[in-house]
Amino acid sequence: MKLLQINTHPAYPVKIGSGLLDTAGSEIKKTGSRKVALIADENTFGLFGNRVVASLENAGLSYCVKVIAAGENSKSHETLVDVYDFLFENRITRSDLVAALGGGVVGDLAGFAAATYLRGVGLIQLPTTLLAMTDSSVGGKTAINLRGGKNQVGAFYQPEFVLCDTDALTSLPLAEWHCGMGECVKYAAIMDASLADILTDNAKTEEIIYRCLKIKAYAVENDTFDKGVRQMLNFGHTLAHGIEKLSDYAVPHGTAVAQGMYLMTALTVKNGLTPQSALQKLELVLQKCGLDYRTSYPLAEIKRVALSDKKRKGDKITVVYLEDFGRYSLKELSVTEFTEGGAWTL
Ligand code: GLY
Repeated sequence: MKLLQINTHPAYPVKIGSGLLDTAGSEIKKTGSRKVALIADENTFGLFGNRVVASLENAGLSYCVKVIAAGENSKSHETLVDVYDFLFENRITRSDLVAALGGGVVGDLAGFAAATYLRGVGLIQLPTTLLAMTDSSVGGKTAINLRGGKNQVGAFYQPEFVLCDTDALTSLPLAEWHCGMGECVKYAAIMDASLADILTDNAKTEEIIYRCLKIKAYAVENDTFDKGVRQMLNFGHTLAHGIEKLSDYAVPHGTAVAQGMYLMTALTVKNGLTPQSALQKLELVLQKCGLDYRTSYPLAEIKRVALSDKKRKGDKITVVYLEDFGRYSLKELSVTEFTEGGAWTL
């Protein structure tokens, strides 16, 4: 088991290891005798619900369970209101807590419900996918989607603790694994080149998650509200959001991130910001991890759609690029320069 402390305000621990879902109840109990509102989707409740419920019962905690539909469509204001009603009906108070059991959708939705219900109730994250373990469950970003785009309404709201039970990953479909791998390659590319050497070693899953989260912790601790250094975590993401939207979310997030990173690096090689060797290394790692890193959408279209992204600040956009494989840099550009400038086309 590995333990990582996230030194935000408030600070909280992240545990990574086998069997941790069975300890959820006892870990909650250490924080007091609180009622737990367990929120999961149909899939995650079917797979892991019994273990978490048993651990809550063993710890003598009272609890209620809300199961939502699986899939991105649940990150909606309709499902959010449904969750609020559930919290109200079950008399959840500020001293109680929401436990989010699932991937990014459940974590983001339940997290936003916890951040806003009664102006904030307790939250713990029990991520069950590689993507949620390496990214979305840590750092406090919570959100729902609007028709106009992903994560357009949300809050920064840190959990009290995170349990990454690596056993949950054994039942993860390959497509979901690839989704998480897209983020893992991102961490290697921006800050930890040697992480790329172990990404396909299944015996090192705990270490992979830990090393990814060390980088996430650095970004979040130094820039909790995503105004500076945390933006490094957006490497590949602006173009990825464009690809996701153009495909009506048929292209999964991690695949879109792989495509966004590759496209962005091809651009910055062309305009001289990145050495060709870094693109070659990135391509090799993406291939090795089995990621579908080439998109068939035209770059101009991707950029047009990407620029409705919330990462845009007025007429400016911050681009994350690789100075080399394992080293990122940020560059602020005008939207016109990015969309029309010859340096930013292939
Ligand atoms: N997923 C990127 C971030 O947490 O900032």
